[in-house]
Amino acid sequence: MRDFSKRLIAWQKVHGRHGLPWQRSRDPYRIWLSEVMLQQTQVGTVIPYYEQFLDRFPDLTRLARAPLAEVLRLWAGLGYYSRARNLHRAALKIVDERRGAFPRRRVALEELPGVGRSTAAAVAVFAFGAREAILDGNAKRVLARHFAVEGVPGNSAYEAKLWSLAESLLPARDVPTYTQGLMDLGTAVCTRTSPGCAHCPVASSCVALKRGCVAAFPTPLRRKPARVRSVAMLLLLRGSQILLQARPPAGIWGGLWSLPEMPIGVDARAHCAAELGCEVGTPEALAPLRHRFTHFTLDIRPYRCEVSRVMSRTEEPRRVWYGLAQAEAAGVPVPVRKLLRGLRRNT
Ligand code: ADE
Repeated sequence: MRDFSKRLIAWQKVHGRHGLPWQRSRDPYRIWLSEVMLQQTQVGTVIPYYEQFLDRFPDLTRLARAPLAEVLRLWAGLGYYSRARNLHRAALKIVDERRGAFPRRRVALEELPGVGRSTAAAVAVFAFGAREAILDGNAKRVLARHFAVEGVPGNSAYEAKLWSLAESLLPARDVPTYTQGLMDLGTAVCTRTSPGCAHCPVASSCVALKRGCVAAFPTPLRRKPARVRSVAMLLLLRGSQILLQARPPAGIWGGLWSLPEMPIGVDARAHCAAELGCEVGTPEALAPLRHRFTHFTLDIRPYRCEVSRVMSRTEEPRRVWYGLAQAEAAGVPVPVRKLLRGLRRNT
């Protein structure tokens, strides 16, 4: 067991990642931000968002004071927007309830919205040098294979077994290097579909490799086929302006600017007049677009509608006319950004 962490630490020092932006700092705010962004998103995608976010919100106070809409604007494109809402709530909580003092201990970090045990441990390790175990997706896969832990992801006995393994493997020293090593090994070597066992520093003790069944760990989840939801999106154009509508605060894309929607099969002209206060010409159906979420696929049918007359009810607090170019930068979900870009190219 001790050998596992020793070999991983030695490997990380030579082959692991060292130049990532959040590795240049021990500021808990910066490290927390990186861990939250990395929860469901890969390093390469995160880096530009991370840097822009920090340019705009260089510290906790500035994040806490910002309007949520501005935080969402900088998050737009990263997806999983509850992460941004939780980040903002957590910043307010630290500023209001702890006078800006960032929690240092793993259990106190877990009290923050959006911070689970593994994220809390990673922040405690990287910012404060704590001796805590992480168990993110990569670490789970590495440990499940190495120790041939049988079970179904999500099952509580299985998860408990992995947590207890993760804790028992913690070295006495060099915990940050060890933790980064576990993340790096999972990302670069012990990958989900084509593990590079020939380059693995802990291959000699890997039980799954010895048994020739690396691919069987972790047990693949039998996913139900993704549900498909269809919706029509309306691109209402008035000259070079487009109508945006704020999403309700909860649910997908909560709080983001988006396009007005209507159910499939409804007459777009009638809908625009009745619900959006606009008379429009003949709607033009644009190419449909699919967007995958974790639990369902959104099938988007866009309609371009030229507005011929605006009645009084168009503008309300949740709706706004935006310049087409500005709208793309307003903090809209990725498929909406794609639609706006396509429209701008064709107008
Ligand atoms: N994934 C989650 N946390 C990470 C980190 N600190 N570095 C690289 N990948 C990560």
